[in-house]
Amino acid sequence: MNADIQSSYLVAVIGAGPAGLFAARQLANAGARVILLNRDIKPGGLAEYGIYPDKVKMKDGLRKQFRQILDMPQIHYIGNITISQTGDLTLPDLRTIGFQAILVTAGAQGTKWLGLQGEELVGVYHAKDLVYHYNQLPPFSEKRFILGKRAALIGVGNVMMDIARYLIRRVKVDEVIAVARRGPAEVKFTKSEMENVACNLDQAALATEIKRVTPAMRAVGQDPEAAKAFILSGLPRALEPVSNTRFRFDFLASPSRILGAEGGEVDEDTVLIPGDGEPQAKRTGTKRVIDVDTVIFCIGDRVDENFGLQVRKNEFVKNPNPRFPVEGLSYEAYNPDLERPVDRVFVAGWSREASSGLVGVARKDGEHGAQAVIQYLQTLPPLKDIQTALADLEKRLNMVEKPLISRADLLKLEAAERAELQRRGLEDFKFSTNAEMLQAMGLVKEGSSVS
Ligand SMILES: Cc1cc2nc3c(=O)[nH]c(=O)nc-3n(C[C@H](O)[C@H](O)[C@H](O)COP(=O)(O)OP(=O)(O)OC[C@H]3O[C@@H](n4cnc5c(N)ncnc54)[C@H](O)[C@@H]3O)c2cc1C
Ligand SMILES: NC(=O)c1ccc[n+]([C@@H]2O[C@H](COP(=O)([O-])OP(=O)(O)OC[C@H]3O[C@@H](n4cnc5c(N)ncnc54)[C@H](OP(=O)(O)O)[C@@H]3O)[C@@H](O)[C@H]2O)c1
Repeated sequence: MNADIQSSYLVAVIGAGPAGLFAARQLANAGARVILLNRDIKPGGLAEYGIYPDKVKMKDGLRKQFRQILDMPQIHYIGNITISQTGDLTLPDLRTIGFQAILVTAGAQGTKWLGLQGEELVGVYHAKDLVYHYNQLPPFSEKRFILGKRAALIGVGNVMMDIARYLIRRVKVDEVIAVARRGPAEVKFTKSEMENVACNLDQAALATEIKRVTPAMRAVGQDPEAAKAFILSGLPRALEPVSNTRFRFDFLASPSRILGAEGGEVDEDTVLIPGDGEPQAKRTGTKRVIDVDTVIFCIGDRVDENFGLQVRKNEFVKNPNPRFPVEGLSYEAYNPDLERPVDRVFVAGWSREASSGLVGVARKDGEHGAQAVIQYLQTLPPLKDIQTALADLEKRLNMVEKPLISRADLLKLEAAERAELQRRGLEDFKFSTNAEMLQAMGLVKEGSSVS
């Protein structure tokens, strides 16, 4: 750790996804010394391990920006370290070390279970795990996913579209059914993501389905033809087909039970009822079985329950009356039992609002989180002895029984991956196990085991 850098404040940023990286830059520019602690060996979060692998240009552009941030002398990257109640360090550890503020930008790493019978069956998955798998994030990269021939994807957002793209264009399953609890007018995906799978859309099935749900749509004043036109708007610029997968939609169907590979998935019909803004789904009690062998929930994620902060409605609880609001939003972690903010802890990005928005939104939210932290730091005297805190941190890190990753290590990894990419003549290449990455960085000897 470079002891020569002059800083007034010492801040820990937990998580090096877009929110954490851009927050770190903002904090560093405001004079803070930032220690960026990241679970994964590599930085980038979902920008590296979520965005669809074929979006090579977009990913490379983001990687370039992330490198520039990590090159800032006031930012010190530590990868392969988990902060949580069950991790390598806890929030109280970070406070004891002497961090004056802790910004949590660890994304939404928990699973949004619905409590349905059969959720735990083989062949039932949550999108994030599969996304991490095909984007080669250890340990998900090494996990086996049993994907059958007919898959129901629950939810109709862009994550569903990414999973559909993977199943249609890579796995080449027989059928993908996107199941929506509401109607065609409430789909959340974008036209550009539809273009990746539109060539496999069963247009006759869509027409039949729109006809089936037309009375329910008309009952809440919706235009079925306009909704259909949006879904079909991906056709003119659709990618060329590479499989015979049949892609169709099943609207007004809320998942109620999963019967397993032999039985399929049970949905309960819904109707639309007027709500605040968009109509909401109301279950009717009528159930039907969809004949599938794979069910993938694409319904958004939840923050990590084990992190050490209280969770409500899939999110960390925030101070309802923020002391340092930014654009009216609270970035302060809150303990509702004690009815007070959690000492020194702030949240931003998908850790503040789970599964919300694109990289640009996470970036802005990270920067706003950093602004909230800066407002808070300005109420404190500068830390007298940053060096003692850094020495203490170093001592704690030395006790972690696995290799921790520095910026210099990352540069070695990037060079090794670049060499491998050229050798194999690929457009993009990355190692998909921690063992390979550590070996490429010279942090374990060939043949030795890495936990
Ligand atoms: C499948 C999918 C596809 C997407 N595709 C696009 C797209 O094409 N274009 C686009 O603009 N946006 C896309 N997004 C959205 C975008 O990825 C997110 O908006 C953004 O990555 C969220 O940033 P974040 O920093 O809040 O969280 P994340 O990106 O999730 O980053 C969290 C970071 O925290 C670290 N971490 C987690 N837990 C801990 C812990 N306990 N201790 C220490 N570190 C921890 C992780 O290692 C990770 O680096 C996609 C999202 C998904 C899910
Ligand atoms: N290519 C890209 O640009 C890209 C790719 C992936 C993700 N992203 C972004 O990442 C964010 C998250 O995406 P997302 O697809 O996870 O979220 P999303 O856009 O909010 O879609 C979630 C879907 O799940 C449904 N759902 C939620 N809870 C449900 C439940 N209990 N039962 C049944 N259905 C349920 C929602 O239905 P309701 O509408 O009825 O709630 C919705 O259809 C979005 O901002 C997205 O744009 C972007």
